[in-house]
Amino acid sequence: MTWCDVLYHPGWAATAALLAVVVRLQRRGWWDPRACTVRLTGKTAIVTGANTGIGKFIALDFARRGARVILACRSESRGTAALKEIKEKTGNSDIHLRLVDLSSLDSVREFSKGILEDEKALHILVNNAGVSGLPRQITKDGFDMCFATNHLGPFLLTSLLLDLMKRSTPARIVNLSSVNHKKGQVDFSHFHGENLTYHMDKVYNHTKLHNIICTNELARRLQGTGVTANSVHPGVVMTEVMRHYPFIVRFLFSLIGFFFFKSPEEGAVSSIYCAVAEETEGITGKYFDSDCSIVLPAPLARDAALAVKDFEICERLTSKL
Ligand SMILES: NC(=O)c1ccc[n+]([C@@H]2O[C@H](COP(=O)([O-])OP(=O)(O)OC[C@H]3O[C@@H](n4cnc5c(N)ncnc54)[C@H](OP(=O)(O)O)[C@@H]3O)[C@@H](O)[C@H]2O)c1
Ligand SMILES: *[C@@H]1O[C@H](CO)[C@@H](O)[C@H](O)[C@H]1NC(C)=O
Ligand SMILES: *[C@@H]1O[C@H](CO)[C@@H](O)[C@H](O)[C@H]1NC(C)=O
Ligand SMILES: *[C@@H]1O[C@H](CO)[C@@H](O)[C@H](O)[C@H]1NC(C)=O
Repeated sequence: MTWCDVLYHPGWAATAALLAVVVRLQRRGWWDPRACTVRLTGKTAIVTGANTGIGKFIALDFARRGARVILACRSESRGTAALKEIKEKTGNSDIHLRLVDLSSLDSVREFSKGILEDEKALHILVNNAGVSGLPRQITKDGFDMCFATNHLGPFLLTSLLLDLMKRSTPARIVNLSSVNHKKGQVDFSHFHGENLTYHMDKVYNHTKLHNIICTNELARRLQGTGVTANSVHPGVVMTEVMRHYPFIVRFLFSLIGFFFFKSPEEGAVSSIYCAVAEETEGITGKYFDSDCSIVLPAPLARDAALAVKDFEICERLTSKL
């Protein structure tokens, strides 16, 4: 047997196939949404960025459970396509599309006004929409585009809908953060696009840290109200999240992702767990990992004094002067 024969031995193919199966299986968490029988009949849920990626599968799950689901999307055509797909797949016709551009405070105010006028209750709010890898761009409100979309817009949205949620208890807020928050820093001049380096996912990392900080502070303020707020890491998920990156980065992401990353459906699991599972009822101010376990976020995300300051600054930045 020459060395060549060793290389071509069929055992390699069998081992590779076995390894692929193991890798595929380990992407699954221990909690299976399909095995969870919780119904959401009579409940209203809002999912932002529900037209694609993780958000679409979160909305699909809520629809299957019989909820009234509001898809908060920025594109009418993409939103309508998702609306149609979710209605068809679930047979639930109580699904609605409402347009909102989270990077604009005016748009968030307009959207919230519509919700407060038309909805009698709101039991679940999932702040899912997010962007990564944007070049420097300042919004008309004077904020960095990524900070506005990932943090300040959702922050204002949550504040404006909070009273409705308090009247709809028990109610749950779920915020999609990311393990990337661990590399984030807090510098309040970032909000206005100052002191920021637009390199790869650097700005994104900062925004995901602010998500957890403010979620925790909100949870503290909401103690005893029956409204809970938690943050989750969905895992590394094959979605359109890399759309603003150079071709080569997207190519590598897809190539590696094909084997190792979660599908959008798998990526939705930790958020669904937080939003509907009986096990998570009453839990608040926590950070859930992609396998649905509660883990400690980075030290900066646990700094209570920093959280008070951050929350107050965000309140000031998003308030109407
Ligand atoms: N994928 C991952 O590996 C990963 C890892 C950690 C955390 N996350 C988090 O998971 C969440 C969902 O990400 P994804 O991977 O599903 O990304 P995605 O496929 O890119 O979907 C993002 C969604 O957000 C919407 N959106 C973006 N900007 C918006 C704006 N200004 N106003 C309203 N909606 C806006 C998008 O709408 P359009 O389709 O119209 O653009 C889309 O529906 C994000 O918060 C992300 O940070 C993802
Ligand atoms: C989560 O909620 C907090 C508090 O309301 C808010 O500041 C933050 O922007 C939200 N996160 C996301 C991802 O929308
Ligand atoms: C930028 O960061 C430095 C060091 O952290 C800080 O002293 C400075 O005030 C920041 N710049 C602005 C414009 O806030
Ligand atoms: C952002 O966070 C990710 C995950 O922790 C890390 O791999 C990456 O290097 C960070 N990006 C920057 C530019 O710091």
